[in-house]
Amino acid sequence: MSRILTGVQSTGRPHMGNLLGAIIPAIELANNSKNDSFLFIADLHSLTQIKNPRELKDNTLQVAATWLACGLNTEITTFYRQSDIPECTELAWYLNCHFPYQRLKLAHSFKDKADRLEDINSGLFSYPMLMAADILLYDADLVPVGKDQSQHIEMTKDVASRMNHKYGDVFILPEAILQKESQLIPGTDGQKMSKSRNNTIDIFDTEKNINKNINKNIITDNTPLEDPKDPNSSTIYDLYKLISSQEEAQEMSNKLLAGGYGWGHAKKDFSQKLVDYFKPQREKFNHFINNPKEVEEVLEQGAIKAKKVANATLKRIRKNLGYN
Ligand code: ADP
Ligand code: TRP
Repeated sequence: MSRILTGVQSTGRPHMGNLLGAIIPAIELANNSKNDSFLFIADLHSLTQIKNPRELKDNTLQVAATWLACGLNTEITTFYRQSDIPECTELAWYLNCHFPYQRLKLAHSFKDKADRLEDINSGLFSYPMLMAADILLYDADLVPVGKDQSQHIEMTKDVASRMNHKYGDVFILPEAILQKESQLIPGTDGQKMSKSRNNTIDIFDTEKNINKNINKNIITDNTPLEDPKDPNSSTIYDLYKLISSQEEAQEMSNKLLAGGYGWGHAKKDFSQKLVDYFKPQREKFNHFINNPKEVEEVLEQGAIKAKKVANATLKRIRKNLGYN
């Protein structure tokens, strides 16, 4: 049985692109898998950017509520909050002291962030060592990540083998599972849906606001209502296809091609479909947001399971390093 571990950033309420592109496929994998799976909310990493306690806490709640609303089975997956296991910060220090500064300077993600962000703090710089600690603390075998994270996994292996070399076999060397470039979900402007582009669809919003967002923000051309329209150059049709059956998609395509069916009609049909499609998740999400104690309880139970593993590993590591 392999141990699979991954962390998710807590950067606010996930949008339709996050759900269809990352969260729902990851849950299918976690729930089906015969593996021992660990999933955590990386709220210590968030501190590199978020210095507002309320926002930090709220982001964690929104992200946890999303995973639970989308059906993560927490009997199978150990689901926890990174900050509940401070052991990882202790391990991060040990790793920091064994990883050359010059190597850390080569991290692409730091360079990228340093170019874009205002708050360039030391935590941002040593981010890869905290991530390595997240992984090594749980003796993870496999780490599913996006391509942008693969260098961090290489650094994890690098620091682990340096320490293994020095102290004997302290760590298990993990392997990355590089996620396939997921299907890109377009946003309201037809570009990749992304928080940073302000083109997201918030499926957890009220029905009224979802309708408003779609009506107001999805870009269409100005073909008159009665004229035929090309479904394949339409963002509404692209989005509609993602959440409807083949027959339903075909039906919209036929209507667009026939003419007499305006973009306003297509928006209305898409909006209705979207509201219905995510209704169960929206209801569960709202339930969790209104009952944060339930989420808290799930995360606390997860933390108990995670802590057991973390304590055992840390004990082994401390002993190897010559600490009590
Ligand atoms: P954002 O671009 O909104 O900041 P993130 O970069 O935080 O989103 O992405 C979180 C996860 O969601 C990643 O695994 C990413 O691949 C996935 N994801 C984000 N946007 C999309 C999209 N438009 N289509 C498919 N997957 C996406
Ligand atoms: N850095 C990862 C990201 O930006 C999140 C993360 C933190 C992570 N710790 C991890 C992912 C450990 C995998 C394993 O997406």
